[in-house]
Formats: sequence, C-alpha cells, structure tokens
Amino acid sequence: MNGDFTLYTPTKVVFGHKAEEKVGELVCAFGGSRVLIHYGGGSVVRSGLLDRVKASLEKAGLFYVELGGVVPNPQLSKVYEGIELAKVNRVDFILAVGGGSVIDSSKAIAYALGEPEYDVKELYEHTRTAKASYPLGAVLTIAAAGSEMSDSSVISYEGKKRGYNSDLCRPRFAVMDPELTLTLPDYQTCAGCSDILMHTMERYFTNGSKMQITDALAEGLLRTVMKNAAVLHRDPQNYQARAEVMWCSSLSHNGLTGCGNDGNDFASHRLEHELGALYDVTHGAGLTAVWPSWARYVYRNCLPRFVQFAVNVMGVVPAATDEETALLGIAAMENYFRSIGMPVTLSELLGRTVSEEEIQTLAHNCALATGGKVGSAMVLYEADMANIYRMANK
Ligand code: NZQ
Ligand code: ZN
Repeated sequence: MNGDFTLYTPTKVVFGHKAEEKVGELVCAFGGSRVLIHYGGGSVVRSGLLDRVKASLEKAGLFYVELGGVVPNPQLSKVYEGIELAKVNRVDFILAVGGGSVIDSSKAIAYALGEPEYDVKELYEHTRTAKASYPLGAVLTIAAAGSEMSDSSVISYEGKKRGYNSDLCRPRFAVMDPELTLTLPDYQTCAGCSDILMHTMERYFTNGSKMQITDALAEGLLRTVMKNAAVLHRDPQNYQARAEVMWCSSLSHNGLTGCGNDGNDFASHRLEHELGALYDVTHGAGLTAVWPSWARYVYRNCLPRFVQFAVNVMGVVPAATDEETALLGIAAMENYFRSIGMPVTLSELLGRTVSEEEIQTLAHNCALATGGKVGSAMVLYEADMANIYRMANK
C-alpha cells in the first residue's frame, strides 16, 4: 500500500480510418510469416472485414489459415481446435479479428504454441505459470473488454469461466478503426461501454494510495464513456462517439487508470464471471446487474472514494452526510446503466430471479475461483458474495 507501480503497455496502437488495411505490414513488422486468422460467429464475414484483412495479408505476401466460430464467453474446445490447426500449418503468428472473446481465444492458442509440451488449461486452473507465448495481434471490432492491450484472457470450460494474467499475452499490435464498430447492435455497444466503465471503476474504488493524476485520468475516462455511450444509444452511427469509446476501451484496461492506487478490486468482475459460467450472459450486462448491489454492500468500507466518485464523476451535489452523498452517487450510476438499457438486477439480466440454491452455487464457485476472497474496497468472503447475489436478486 505505498503507491509504487509498474506499467507495461507494449502494444503498438494503429487507430483510425481504414487502419485494418495496414494489418499485413504490421504482421511482417512483428516477425510473422504464417498466420492463423481467428474470428467469431460471422460479423466480420458479413461486414467484409475478413476479406479486407485477407487482402492485406496477401499483399504482404503472408501465408494464412483461418478459424472462425469463437462464441462470446469463449470455449476451451475452440482453443484446442485452433492449436491443432496452427501446429499442422506451422503458424508463427495469431491474428485476432473480433472482440474480447476472439482475442482471448487467440491468447490461449498463443500460450499453447509457446509451450507445446503442456496443456494450456493448466494456466486457467492456475496450476502452473506461463513462460512463453507466440506473438499475436488484434483487429478490434467492439469497444469493450480491453483485451487488445490487456494482460488478461478469460476462457470457459466445464461450467467454469476462468482468467489468466501475464504480460506475455499482451498483443504486439492493436488495429482500431472506429468505423468497424458501426455494425454493432445497441445492446452490445452499451454492454461494451459498461464493461469499459467497470474496468476503471474496479481500479478506482480502493483503500490504497492515491495519485491525483490517476484519479483525474480515471474520472475523465468515466465521464467520457458515459457521455459517448449515451450518444451511441441514441445515434449508433456517430463516428466520433465510436472513436471516443474505442480508445477508452484500451485505456481503461491497459493498467493506466490504476497506476499508484493499489486498487484492483475486481470483485464485481469475479461475481460476474460466475454468472457468465452458469447462464452464459453478456459480460457487460452481468457486471451492471451486480454492481449496484456490490456498491451498496461495500461503500461504508471505502467511503471517501464513493463520495469522490459521486461528486467528481456523477455530478452529485454533496448531501448532509458522506453516506448520503455516496448513496446518491451509486443511485445515479444505477440510473445511468438503466438509461442505456442495461440490467441492474438479476431478474432484469436473466428474466427471472434465482433460487437460494443457485445463489449458494454462485457464491461457492466464486470463492473457489478467487481462492476464498476477493476485493480491495472491501475484502469479500463466500458469505459476502452470497449476500451480494441475494441483494441483486430482485
Ligand atoms: O461473434 P461475432 O459474430 O463477431 O459477434 C460478436 C459477439 O456476438 C458481436 N460483435 C463484435 N463485433 C461486432 C459484432 N457484431 C457486429 N458488428 C461488430 N463490429 O458482439 C458479440 C460480443 O463479442 P465479444 O467478443 O464476446 O465481446 P467483448 O469484447 O465484450 O468480449 C467479452 C469477453 O471478454 C472477456 C469477457 O469475460 C467475455 O468473455 N473479458 C476479457 C478481458 C480481457 N481479456 O482483458 C477483460 C474483461 O473484463 C472480460 O472479462
Ligand atoms: Zn470486463
């Protein structure tokens, strides 16, 4: 708790109009010659992006094979498929064309190729540490997870959704053309923007050291995303708003908004991962469904930050007591999520409330996945996790 930090963001960012046309030269510049193009359920086929990416690789004289079919909450089975295909074709570079799910699946394949003697699942089980990875690059199609610059990947298998973090998997480059996101459905746009907000909020609500510049960056990012997500909810074709949230997606999760704050609460994320594992929900929507309950459960333990958030981010006029101000800030954020069509309870997320047995399972799985406790604003144990799911269960 001393405010020291290490920031490592090696990803080269190529941002703006037609940036995807540079992908061939970028792969070459980072030493790739035989490429696995990895993509999702078909949006990149329908938009013509996949063809443009292939044309760019061909122009650069690169060999490629392709593997589509990555689903949201990406599955380990698809990762294994990608590993086999890459081995058979002596692939030396992975190119993710899609969102967080595709990039995370690519990261898992890259780890597996880096250490072919091991099962990559062991990383997500946390029974060993990665020592090597193949290089990867990303052509981003949704502003959301921030995987294009993050050290994280999240993979689902056997009813579990588990993450693994290592600098080894940070993409060599991220190609970001905001125009590629104009085809997103409103729900995905707003869920993505909610995830962006959450990546900074997870770092902001901390009892650790404080740095004014980090707070200023974090608060500015939160205000910018809120403003532009609201614009996109009304006007999805607004290029400038797409550009704002796309850049925020990377900055929110590359480490910048946590420097020196000893933060990394990430309890809402861990609570959401269990919802994703059990009910296959959209990640950003799962987050908004638990955040208001998490916030009301923990705010007293982190009161100054909740007050600062209320005033500086949500524009709340300070009330008579700090508690009241903090609660007004939480309610304002909850209303904001509602205003962009996001769920703020489990029944809004799932279309029903869950049983007490389901709550126990969710909390137990969350405790197993987190080694028994999680959180920085407040350390949560299994009973706390169950209480938060219960509060959200309306
Ligand atoms: O599969 P396709 O057909 O491409 O459709 C996708 C998918 O259905 C669609 N989509 C993406 N770009 C589009 C588009 N549709 C139309 N036009 C476009 N331009 O959007 C849907 C969601 O895609 P997905 O990749 O799942 O979204 P997101 O980026 O939100 O990724 C979510 C995954 O990332 C993980 C989440 O847990 C979840 O599994 N996370 C990864 C993180 C990381 N690696 O750093 C951090 C996050 O906290 C998160 O946990
Ligand atoms: Zn997230």
